[in-house]
Amino acid sequence: MKGSIPEDKIEEIRRRADIVSLIGEYVTLRKAGKNFLGLCPFHREKTPSFTVSPEKQMFYCFGCSEGGDAVSFLMKLNQLTFPEAVRHLAGKAGVVIPERTVSHEEKERRTLREQIRQTNELAAGFFADALRSPAGEGAREYLRKRGIGEEAISTFRLGLAPDGWRHLLDFLGKKGISPQLAEKAGLIVPRAGQQDRGYYDRFRGRLMIPIEDVDGHVIAFGGRVMGAGEPKYVNSPESAVYTKGNNLYGLARTREAIRERGFAILIEGYFDLISLWNAGITNVVATLGTALTRSQIDLIRRYTTHVAAVFDSDEAGRKALARSLELFLAGNIHARAVILPDGYDPDDFVRTRGREETEELVARALPMVDYYIDEILGGRGTLEEDRDKLREAVSFICRIEDAIARNLFVKKVSEKLNVDQDVLKTEVQRALSRAPAPQIDQPRRKTAGEIDHLELSLIHMMLEYPTLTPRVAESGVLNCFLTEELKSLGERILADAGKEEMPDASSLVSGLAEGPVRVKILALLMRESPYHEEWMDRLLVDTTRQIRRKWCKERHRILRRQIGKAEEDGNGELCARLLREKERLMQEEKMLA
Ligand code: GTP
Ligand code: MN
Repeated sequence: MKGSIPEDKIEEIRRRADIVSLIGEYVTLRKAGKNFLGLCPFHREKTPSFTVSPEKQMFYCFGCSEGGDAVSFLMKLNQLTFPEAVRHLAGKAGVVIPERTVSHEEKERRTLREQIRQTNELAAGFFADALRSPAGEGAREYLRKRGIGEEAISTFRLGLAPDGWRHLLDFLGKKGISPQLAEKAGLIVPRAGQQDRGYYDRFRGRLMIPIEDVDGHVIAFGGRVMGAGEPKYVNSPESAVYTKGNNLYGLARTREAIRERGFAILIEGYFDLISLWNAGITNVVATLGTALTRSQIDLIRRYTTHVAAVFDSDEAGRKALARSLELFLAGNIHARAVILPDGYDPDDFVRTRGREETEELVARALPMVDYYIDEILGGRGTLEEDRDKLREAVSFICRIEDAIARNLFVKKVSEKLNVDQDVLKTEVQRALSRAPAPQIDQPRRKTAGEIDHLELSLIHMMLEYPTLTPRVAESGVLNCFLTEELKSLGERILADAGKEEMPDASSLVSGLAEGPVRVKILALLMRESPYHEEWMDRLLVDTTRQIRRKWCKERHRILRRQIGKAEEDGNGELCARLLREKERLMQEEKMLA
């Protein structure tokens, strides 16, 4: 489905998109030969096998076989539809999609997600304006008291939901947003009781904090009461664009700093984040009021593999630490634990002690593994207490999926608790064999079908050296292809070769259906080309000949069977025809030899 974006626009956008800088926004890439390498955002890995080729404008992961062009990258990464991804790219490349294409029907057809995002953007603008209006004086005063400056206010697009039941409702109505849509965005709430009693604003008299996705689209809001009052925060409900556990607060505004500093400071509150940023500590992200999740770790890993996570020193803080340590270990993240003094949160700390002292506290943070062992398991107690700790350690170790990390942990714990390493290992082994086998998440690999490698090489050559295509056409070798999908791809390449503007490999491959053929071709294209210009003629002749020979052999096999059957049936006429065909085949084979 291409929406109603004209084909030529799509082509222009594709041509103008730079896949390296696009993917570079989400994945830390380093140059490796002609390509760029990074940790794959589609599966968990320790060593980079995610490859981006500037030359081919494609990406491919040798670990999980995800691959494609800029459009499919965006679609997969951000769960966008094709038109959404194309529009996103158009915005970046400065390609204007003509207004007339955004007709009324088009608007209707736009996906719900797009509509919600747009509604949220309107609401964010409304709240931001309200904060700057005379009615916003109280809220501005609140922010002043908390030391939040202009720059932070505009960077985080802070706003005010005016007190009242239908300020936003009316505003959105004027902008042509239906109440049904505003409700789906979580901005307004239907009145309880009888039907059709209308709606009211969810956020009233609150300081508004837009929650953005990594691209800076507003996906939800947090609304803080100013001064006393319950609840402290009213948050948007989850929606088609917002899942708490899949997003991190602030990342769109801090991902560059995180990459530059080489690590992320992970905290819990919106205000903690804004306050640290305001104080000049900008490599921060915050969870969204729930415990850290795997998918948040995956999100962080796109930018860095080093995290300094901030915890309270109380019991709740310890629990949170143990839980997140497991996730960090599973996610191959080097985590350090920053422990705040009693009674402080990051906001209090940075405001009373200042930026430098906060940076020092972070710099001094111990690796989380060490902290966990020293402070949570450690400290010699009574025999009983030690036994409890050992049990806790064993159950913790069992939850570490990575065998290397597990062994490291065994070693450290055995030293700390002063138990024999082998004894601990045996305990762990015993516990593990009792536990159900962990379900290992692996990319589903379709069985590599019946892809003929010679045919695949020929297609590869055609893609790498478009000048060869006329000779392939002449040889008629495509008719000898056994792999149907490769045959039709070859035909498409030949058909395109005649066109004025030859499409590149990337758009051809992007057109292929998901499956082993697509994967194989992507993998080939992403490797350094094995070919040399001066051998190409030779190689083409050779490969073509081999494919034909194989075809002949296959034909022979089929003919033999058919002839046998024809004889059995006493079908003399068919038999003669088949024998003539066999004769012809043998001639052909002789020529190929
Ligand atoms: P301040 O108290 O203004 O400094 O805000 P904070 O963002 O630092 O909040 P706090 O540390 O108290 O809480 C951490 C996070 O938990 C917040 O950012 C919210 O995401 C969430 N949270 C806190 N209080 C509430 C609440 O009353 N309701 C909901 N739904 N979430 C809350
Ligand atoms: Mn706080």
